[in-house]
Amino acid sequence: MVDLPPAANGPLKDLEEWEDDLRRRYPEPANELAPQSTKAKEEFRDYRTTTRPSVREFYRLNHLYQTVDFVRAKRDDYLRLNRRKMGLWDGLEFLNTLVDDSDPDTALPQIEHLLQTAEAIRRDGHPRWFILTGLIHDFGKVLCLFGEPQWAVVGDTFPVGCAYAEEIVFREFLDENPDRERPEYQTPCGIYEKGCGMDNVLLSWGHDEYMYHVVKDYLPPEALYMIRYHSFYPGHRDGAYAHLMNARDRKYFNAVKAFNPYDLYTKAAERPDVDTLRPYYEDLWNEFFPPQLAF
Ligand SMILES: [Fe+2]
Ligand SMILES: [Fe+2]
Repeated sequence: MVDLPPAANGPLKDLEEWEDDLRRRYPEPANELAPQSTKAKEEFRDYRTTTRPSVREFYRLNHLYQTVDFVRAKRDDYLRLNRRKMGLWDGLEFLNTLVDDSDPDTALPQIEHLLQTAEAIRRDGHPRWFILTGLIHDFGKVLCLFGEPQWAVVGDTFPVGCAYAEEIVFREFLDENPDRERPEYQTPCGIYEKGCGMDNVLLSWGHDEYMYHVVKDYLPPEALYMIRYHSFYPGHRDGAYAHLMNARDRKYFNAVKAFNPYDLYTKAAERPDVDTLRPYYEDLWNEFFPPQLAF
């Protein structure tokens, strides 16, 4: 077991506080035929004034410290994948050390979120790789257990090295980012080329990119897009950064959009029976992955 405080270094009570806040910002559409509220702008203003101080502080830190140099340094370090080898169950148990297990009601929030996401995908009759994607999409949060602060693990991701889109939540906090003083990073394309494709773009560092590299040899492209970009809300929910995307991105961001409701809106579903589900998911893991993945 890793000896870290449950709130693993940061202003958030726990990592779920960021996701709870996402659900507030992007409420579940009441009617699938009319998913976009006509009051979106008003709601967004309301969102800003009613955001909890802990969440606001979390975004302030994220926007202050996620620079090009920071992202490059984290990639150089973590993408060597030399920290730990984990199978499904050790991974889930390790992730679960992120939480305070003194509260019996929320003793397994990470495991439950992953199983609820996967079970909802399974109920809707989607392919097995999609179900597995639901199960493992947040495994990258183990970054917290490797000592990373919350703002370098979760949070909406955004490109670094080019102008910050208006759609980024609490964008004004990016005015304090040191990259703001680098003119070469502040043009629409910055250090990239128009239409270069998101694969060539550095996103702010977090659990998405990390997990993509852990599984990139084992899953189909749709699954890899879901994992790599599920926190890229400015891109997949708000349509920003289209000028950096290529045809492949435009095709596979549909998969990211299809995945997002399962990530955000399956939380209130009935609690999964972990022991009963375990054999099914062990089989599923073994169908696509070796017994252990390198993190
Ligand atoms: Fe996530
Ligand atoms: Fe998630």
